[in-house]
Amino acid sequence: MLSIDWTSQDPATAALQTLVVVLASPDCATIVERLFGAPTAQAAVAGRFTGRTGEQFRFAREREGSLQTVVLLGLGTDAPTPSRWRSLAYEALRAAQVGSQQLVLDLRQVAGLAPAPPQLGNLLAQGLELATYRYDRYIAEARRKPSTVQRVTVVSEHAAASEGFARGQTIAHAVAQARDLVNGPANEVTPTYLAEFAAAVVARLKDVADVTLKVLEREDCEKLGMGCYLGVAQCGPQPLKFIHLRYTPKGEAKGRVCLVGKGVTFDSGGLSLKPSDAMMGMKMDMGGAAAVLCALEGAAQLAVPWEVHAIVAATENMIGGNAYKLGDVLTASNGKTVEIDNTDAEGRLTLADALVYAGKLQPTYTLDFATLTGACIVALGPHIAGVMSRDDELCTQWLAASERAGEDAWRLPLPEALKEQLKSPIADMRNTGERWGGAVTAGLFLSEFTEGQRWVHVDIAGPAMVRKPFGVNDEGGSGYAVATILEFLR
Ligand code: BES
Ligand code: MN
Ligand code: ZN
Repeated sequence: MLSIDWTSQDPATAALQTLVVVLASPDCATIVERLFGAPTAQAAVAGRFTGRTGEQFRFAREREGSLQTVVLLGLGTDAPTPSRWRSLAYEALRAAQVGSQQLVLDLRQVAGLAPAPPQLGNLLAQGLELATYRYDRYIAEARRKPSTVQRVTVVSEHAAASEGFARGQTIAHAVAQARDLVNGPANEVTPTYLAEFAAAVVARLKDVADVTLKVLEREDCEKLGMGCYLGVAQCGPQPLKFIHLRYTPKGEAKGRVCLVGKGVTFDSGGLSLKPSDAMMGMKMDMGGAAAVLCALEGAAQLAVPWEVHAIVAATENMIGGNAYKLGDVLTASNGKTVEIDNTDAEGRLTLADALVYAGKLQPTYTLDFATLTGACIVALGPHIAGVMSRDDELCTQWLAASERAGEDAWRLPLPEALKEQLKSPIADMRNTGERWGGAVTAGLFLSEFTEGQRWVHVDIAGPAMVRKPFGVNDEGGSGYAVATILEFLR
């Protein structure tokens, strides 16, 4: 972790220091001239630096006997969103990262645009920490390039808000853990691995918070009649693990929140086998599980006032002689029967039994997170999660939290009329609808297993895995939803 501090004075120049000065257009050149003199201002203008979002102008100067790298970084004039403050900090750290030990982040020129100190500190700390994230455990030690920055000093007139930093660092740590799980290859991150990860969460929090773990094995799930989940998992070869983590706050809880995560550690498509290109990357099909397990750890560290449950019906979706088949009829733990017309619509089957299990805990709210449909990526693109709910109030609360956390989300409807598509001639329903509207028919399918619950479904198929870097994300797992969950549980 970085050491982050805050000062209102110009810190002393030191060797291996990068000073990042954040500026917003339009009168950038005047400010640069006042801070660094006319020649630098001229050079910045020639270098087309105008303070717009993401623009950088870099130079070096000798000062107090040291060579200091200076980077002018554009914030942009528009009222910056929480997500912009986070990525600004990320860009600043990345600008310093090659070679510097200390980043001095000077915000004095944009102080008027910043949110209140604890929120600002939180967002900055997240962006800074996430800029140091790398998934390099499978790269030879000699070839790894860890961040060189150890210390960050934020300069602003309103010295305050160190609690914002701590919160942001805790959130970033939880996000990084989720990224590790998503980036981990499916031959490492199996259902057993996820269960062991959950056990490690309990061990880490032993002296910090009341966190307990229950892992159901196949026989336990049979006793509970989880036929849909068992159908997906019956091929194995990795043994299934139904993971239930629980955090209980000190004092009276505001209520009980069940977080259900899709935990398909590899999705081959099953007998409805995916083509090779589509199968590539399907180690990420446990992004929902990663989010809920890591968010629970973060929630315990932040001592949120809610009782929180993280529930994951973990399994692979594989092919083999024992695999579930097209036309099979599975019976879920709420008694509903499902005819399988595509074994690649496996996530909703695992979630069905997990959601019924959650319902038995009589939660105040149930939220599920799932890399559920390619159709959701078609609808909203790769950055935005699809949010579905019958509960307007809860849905609005979720969307507001995602806005504050800087994770993009958009509501999709649950059109009753499309339930028609899920009809089966021989069972209560089938597991897929028609081609169009695949994200919402998946949501409608889940709604059959959340009756009476205040429930939100978040399809994270797009943002869970990043192909082109954006914001605070490099290529790979993003840890999407962790930050919003922690904001929601505040
Ligand atoms: N895990 C996939 C969804 C997915 C696709 C996530 C691409 C991330 C990127 C899911 O299990 C799946 O295969 N869904 C099918 C549903 C269809 C068979 C109704 C899909 O989206 O094609
Ligand atoms: Mn699938
Ligand atoms: Zn899947």
